[in-house]
Amino acid sequence: GGPGVLAGRRVLVSAGGTQEPLDPVRFLGNRSSGKQGVALAAAARDAGAEVTLVAAHVEVPLPAGVRVLRVGTAEELRSALVEETGNADVVLMAAAVADFRPAERLGTKIKKRADGDDPVIELVRNPDILAELVTLRNREKRSQLILGFAAETGDGAGSVLDYARQKLERKGCDLLVVNHVGESKVFGQDENSVQILSRTASEMQHVEGSKNTVAQAIILRVAAELGV
Ligand code: C5P
Repeated sequence: GGPGVLAGRRVLVSAGGTQEPLDPVRFLGNRSSGKQGVALAAAARDAGAEVTLVAAHVEVPLPAGVRVLRVGTAEELRSALVEETGNADVVLMAAAVADFRPAERLGTKIKKRADGDDPVIELVRNPDILAELVTLRNREKRSQLILGFAAETGDGAGSVLDYARQKLERKGCDLLVVNHVGESKVFGQDENSVQILSRTASEMQHVEGSKNTVAQAIILRVAAELGV
């Protein structure tokens, strides 16, 4: 470990929440601030990596010294990542991707109507980008480390980590960073408490502290997995 552990490595990071338009003035969004993803991009840069950050909606300043691509929707995020993934040694998928988007995007603002019914919004599934990046890597037989995040609310004692382990298998990524989210926890906060799960190790690593501290720990763990 130490500074420079990712020297010469190309790291692709996604951060922030996607916004899925309903009409020209409205969208469906989520409460992601992008802090953890932006902190990861900065930590990778500080570790010597060449960083590309694909940023959806973020509420913090974007870091200097990294290449930034801005996106809005999940579909735009997907295109940017599919385009960039072939050039990355490491992919850190921290974006909060909307699972659903409005089935149609109206060209004019939805109006209140005196006569008719209130509108009903139909939703369709967005693609699972993380799973797709894993499939692409496997198909192209690239050596690339892929890390995902899981924000779990848990629906019973002990279920959060069981569920996360299943998610790691289902998505096929190498590392999964799990945070337990609740009403006031995590979103927009500076502190975080996570477990890092690996496909190759049965024990998990607990990290607690500021989102910068957590980012540094994740980068060190990525370096360890790469055998640096
Ligand atoms: O399935 P879930 O949303 O819990 O998985 C979270 C992980 O998957 C995160 O790394 C997130 O960036 C990614 N994800 C994705 N595409 C989606 C939904 C989530 O890449 N449509």
